Amino acid sequence: MQKVVDFLKAAETYYLATVDGDQPRVRPFGTAHVFEGKLYIQTGKSKDVSKQIHKNPKVEICAFKDGDWLRVAGQLVEDDRREARVSMLDAYPQLQAMYSADDGNTEVFYFKDAVATFSSFTKAPETVKF
Ligand SMILES: Cc1cc2nc3c(=O)[nH]c(=O)nc-3n(C[C@H](O)[C@H](O)[C@H](O)COP(=O)(O)O)c2cc1C
Repeated sequence: MQKVVDFLKAAETYYLATVDGDQPRVRPFGTAHVFEGKLYIQTGKSKDVSKQIHKNPKVEICAFKDGDWLRVAGQLVEDDRREARVSMLDAYPQLQAMYSADDGNTEVFYFKDAVATFSSFTKAPETVKF
């Protein structure tokens, strides 16, 4: 899983796809943080993306860097513990201008049953499960 996180951080931006009824939705995201051995992302409860995840936790993300791309498909599970939110905000101090652990909006999710696939035009795909 570390390779997945390293790739997401190096790419800086990934694209998070959610399901909204029968309509896929996708947007840029940047948060990717390991806490207690799991891959976490961060968002705000007020956003549509959050509402979509709560309704249907199946998501996929995609990032591209230096000719390689990574897709991670899986389910997101909210971790409502304060320490999980604090860990994320400590890892991304720039978020603290907009979010705090107790604002009632900040939320973090971790991936479960994730399948990560690294692909390129020149190499065989590599799959990692976590
Ligand atoms: C480079 C980049 C990284 C971003 N990272 C995040 C993120 O990690 N979490 C988040 O909630 N929003 C992030 N955003 C903002 C979301 O893309 C934006 O709020 C989007 O509209 C949310 O999707 P929604 O409108 O479907 O709710 C980022 C935006 C950019 C441009």
